[in-house]
Amino acid sequence: MTIPLIEAKGLSHSFDYPLYNNVNIALNGGQSMAVVGRSGSGKSTLLHTLSTFLKPDSGSVRLFDRDIYLLREDELEKLRRDELGIIFQAHYLFKGMTGRENIEIASLLSSEKIDESLLSELKIKDVVDQKIGDLSGGQQQRVSIARVLHKKPKIIFADEPTGNLDTQTAMLVMDVLLNYIERHNAILFLVTHDDAVACRCDLHYSLEAQSLSKVD
Ligand SMILES: Nc1ncnc2c1ncn2[C@@H]1O[C@H](COP(=O)(O)OP(=O)(O)O)[C@@H](O)[C@H]1O
Ligand SMILES: [Mg+2]
Repeated sequence: MTIPLIEAKGLSHSFDYPLYNNVNIALNGGQSMAVVGRSGSGKSTLLHTLSTFLKPDSGSVRLFDRDIYLLREDELEKLRRDELGIIFQAHYLFKGMTGRENIEIASLLSSEKIDESLLSELKIKDVVDQKIGDLSGGQQQRVSIARVLHKKPKIIFADEPTGNLDTQTAMLVMDVLLNYIERHNAILFLVTHDDAVACRCDLHYSLEAQSLSKVD
């Protein structure tokens, strides 16, 4: 039996109100999963917990068969750096640098050349040498996606990866992400309010009434 690369068991979390209770997730290489839900339902919280940033009130998260909330901070940092690609809503690009320089920061870590075809696929090839501050929100979002993919992560966590994009560009970004996980046998876990994005994933769930339910 293969061990899932992501295995979450019995996750529960509350802030001012209970967000979710007894959530279980298991994902293998090559799989994509989307979670939709209304604003405030706890999607980002769940994503932060799966991606090493927030210890759950109860339950466990295993990534690569290791219980991440039992790891030392230096082990966690190494895991994040080497294996995880995290696309957050606020994409932390360096504003004074060009798009290309931002992507090159990731290449310092992976020592790989920038994949020009990826820039073309994301339709940012012509703007990537401009300063981040001169790019639109949607262009910045795609630079941050290029930067994450450039690291060749084994698991991608994405919080509203298409939030600033028009429908057509959102679909293009989904093509790139799904194509990536297929080629690298990687995993995509994303949260979104956009059903058209979510239904492109292998698994499509909704976070409501404190649990995950399958969307057909
Ligand atoms: N670090 C935090 N401290 C306190 N409350 C938080 C924190 N993070 C999120 N919340 C609250 O938890 C609820 C769910 O937030 P979130 O997971 O961001 O929902 P979603 O992404 O589905 O919109 C919100 O009411 C939010 O204010
Ligand atoms: Mg959110």
